[in-house]
Amino acid sequence: MDWLQRWFIVTLLFLPLVYSVDRSNFKSCQQSSFCKRHRELKGGESPYSLLLNSVQVSDSRVYSEVINIHNNVMFTLEMIPMKDSIIRFKINEKNPIRTRYEDPYALLDNLEGEKFQVVDQSKDGFTIKTGTCKVVVISHPLRLDFYQGEDLVVSANARGLLKFEHYRQKPQEHEQNEDPQGEKPAGEHEEEEDQNGLWEETFKGHTDSKPNGPASVGMDFSFANSKHVYGIPEHADAFSLKETGSTDPYRLYNLDVFEYELDNPMALYGSIPVMVSHTAKHTAGIFWHNTAETWIDIKKSPDSNVVTSITGFFSGGEKEAPEVQTHWISESGVIDAFVMLGPHPMDVFRQYGSLTGNTNLPPMFALAYHQSRWNYNDEEDVRKVHENFDKYDIPMDVLWLDIEHTDGKRYFTWDKHKFPNPIEMTANLTARGRKLVTIVDPHIKRDTNYFFYKELRDKDLYVKTKEGNEYDGWCWPGSSSYPDWTNPEAIEHYINTYSLDRYEGSTLDTFTWNDMNEPSVFNGPEITMQKDLLHPWAGVEHREIHNIYGFLFHAATYEGQRRRSAGKLRPFLLTRAAYAGSQRTTAKWTGDNTAEWGHLRISVPMLLSHSVTGLTHIGADIGGFFGNPDVHLLTRWYQAGAFQPFMRAHAHQETKRREPWLYNESNLKIIRDAIRTRYRYLPLWYTLFYENEMTGAPPMRPIWANFVEDVESFGIDNEFMVGSALLVHPVVDHSVMTATVYFPPGVWYDVLDYTIYNGPASASVQAYMDKIPVYQRGGAIVPRKDRVRRSSVLMRDDPYTLIVALDMEDKAQGTLYIDDEHTFEYREGKFLYLSLTYEDRILQSRKIDPSGVYKTRSWLERVIIIGLKEKPNKILLNSSSMGTIELESSFILGKRNQANQLVIRKPGVNMQEEFTITLQ
Ligand code: NOJ
Repeated sequence: MDWLQRWFIVTLLFLPLVYSVDRSNFKSCQQSSFCKRHRELKGGESPYSLLLNSVQVSDSRVYSEVINIHNNVMFTLEMIPMKDSIIRFKINEKNPIRTRYEDPYALLDNLEGEKFQVVDQSKDGFTIKTGTCKVVVISHPLRLDFYQGEDLVVSANARGLLKFEHYRQKPQEHEQNEDPQGEKPAGEHEEEEDQNGLWEETFKGHTDSKPNGPASVGMDFSFANSKHVYGIPEHADAFSLKETGSTDPYRLYNLDVFEYELDNPMALYGSIPVMVSHTAKHTAGIFWHNTAETWIDIKKSPDSNVVTSITGFFSGGEKEAPEVQTHWISESGVIDAFVMLGPHPMDVFRQYGSLTGNTNLPPMFALAYHQSRWNYNDEEDVRKVHENFDKYDIPMDVLWLDIEHTDGKRYFTWDKHKFPNPIEMTANLTARGRKLVTIVDPHIKRDTNYFFYKELRDKDLYVKTKEGNEYDGWCWPGSSSYPDWTNPEAIEHYINTYSLDRYEGSTLDTFTWNDMNEPSVFNGPEITMQKDLLHPWAGVEHREIHNIYGFLFHAATYEGQRRRSAGKLRPFLLTRAAYAGSQRTTAKWTGDNTAEWGHLRISVPMLLSHSVTGLTHIGADIGGFFGNPDVHLLTRWYQAGAFQPFMRAHAHQETKRREPWLYNESNLKIIRDAIRTRYRYLPLWYTLFYENEMTGAPPMRPIWANFVEDVESFGIDNEFMVGSALLVHPVVDHSVMTATVYFPPGVWYDVLDYTIYNGPASASVQAYMDKIPVYQRGGAIVPRKDRVRRSSVLMRDDPYTLIVALDMEDKAQGTLYIDDEHTFEYREGKFLYLSLTYEDRILQSRKIDPSGVYKTRSWLERVIIIGLKEKPNKILLNSSSMGTIELESSFILGKRNQANQLVIRKPGVNMQEEFTITLQ
């Protein structure tokens, strides 16, 4: 061996393991023929023209017809004004040779329409007015301009990229048959552009037979005056979405991507085709309701090629206004778009919630800390882990069992050797208030001795090949079949399998993890199902519903859990695949990340992207799934996770064990503190999730959701808000002991030492290993429970501490929500929803919703007022049961730039009583 060889080998040995995706497994836009066809469009004058004499106005919609003047194919355009500044429009073929697929699952039932008027009908088009919004429909070329008040906010087809591929006969058949539509040779225009891939497409040895031919739809949307758009998860990329000119478009196609890379638009596990644009004046959103594979290009102007009606935004009208132009491309289905016109962030969140629903209030334990690993090996392992949490004084609510707990990856079964007594094992957990999660995946082992496989097979409920045979794909159990979740019978059967007598070894404290539901198929194209497989019940190809397949599965899991308790208990489940509306039934995590600093960093934008598109109970594997985090990374990850909506540690089978007590005393302490901090703030999280259910407001949110006009914050994705009260800037870099925190307008207090920061400004803050940079907004009241116990249920009746952080005017406010933390009784009025205000030296608690009644044992243990200028002489509490009493307190003068604190001890009033505390 010469020195060079030796050097090479030594270098290889010391190189860190590099995790990176094999991109060749996944299609680029160029390799996906429909994406390529749309992306090559030049835009300019659109060939689509609205026929004004076809316009018909009814109570609920404006119907019209549109022609593609290149091939005379006719389309219908329906404009449907909806409640609360939402306008829906649909474009479909007028006379399709087969019905085009329309998704029936994502939307809530009974969407409400809104009254409207059609005005200004002329030869150029017409205008629809509804509430404070209007849509100007221009007939030729077709274009839709959406206004909020007098301001143009969104335009559709302004760049002329609308392209709707109508169904057609396959050419050779077509030559023999007469054209049913009497038009020019069908599809002539498109086929001139590209003959490849219209009727067949091959990728890595997999041929997609495309029996229905080309059927894609695409359209452009421009957001006026905007520089930032967000959303369309799931991508491991920045929160403010990037231009895609030099990269592929963002792709939405639920995929199991092994070792995904950061900062790129490749598809991942979930697809939520919702985009939000935010400017200081307007927030607006688009929901592109299509469940097929979708790509989205983004371009930010000024751009001289753009034809836009908004000129002169800058002085002199010489420069164009900024705008973000987006181009949406789906493989099939119809165009069904919802334009949500805000005007502000919370309006858009509410509007989107009114379409696809809000996250249901999770049971409290779901917001607490979860401990997972692939795998906890056996009952003994579970027992030890569970006991160590107590031994090391770390709270933990949920222990997770991955695939190895089953009998050969047969879900709903147990490995009898490793888990002989699951009921007893679960009882041990629940004795300390803990729960168990077991994994249930949608690939079903093809084994006729396996009850679940056999039952579905006997009823013929599986996905079929195009030849009509039961589809056989490869996943964890080996040869597997995949239920046809479009079939209500399959769904019903699966739901019933959660009943305690059918799922042996489960209890009401067993919850569910739905993984691999993209679906993942190891030997399929792009590690998923062939698009030309059939869902026999719906009579559709898999391509039509690919992005909602995982949703159908997890929604049924939710129903399974709900039903097993006769509708009394709130379900909890976690999914990897998701679609718009998934939030109604599940929490989600960001899949198989890696134990690298970059993956910790990207968790913030990834979770924010989900949060602003409704999927709010969202988290990333703490520590990173692949690889072994060093202790610094693991510690920082726990600190970040403590302030993110779903907090779970998880790790790959081949990683070293990393339970907190395996680290030295000082790191163990930091991790313990991070988890305990999570528990102290649980009342805040719980209140925020209740408000999320009521209003759509995401608990984890970007700064601009609260500071609408704070332009500085629009591009920030290394910090975020928890509600409107806490600003969190997790440390996501190696060996960093300071952080540059951006403080939005107002006064902010470090939650640990009450150091004061004034915004808007950036400041360098100390961030030693034990420090999580978290700040309470002056003006916010935060409820906490400071007596941390082994699990959240043991804290249910514990007393509260209120942290009252004063703003410049010595005022503050907050809310507190309380109920039984696990049943649906809150929906029958068993709850307390309190408004907490501090003004003119009086803190008061009042019921926001007087109809809510809940008998809590929790009382008020402490009030800490931060930023009070001087010590009061006397503090009096008044409530109906306690009358007026004087309270004890201590006043701590802040040193240098720290705020003063007044600590009021033991007010003692029960939280269900309204009270006032007066400082004299
Ligand atoms: C893939 C999931 O993403 C991961 O979290 C899990 O541990 C493995 N499947 C095994 O079930």
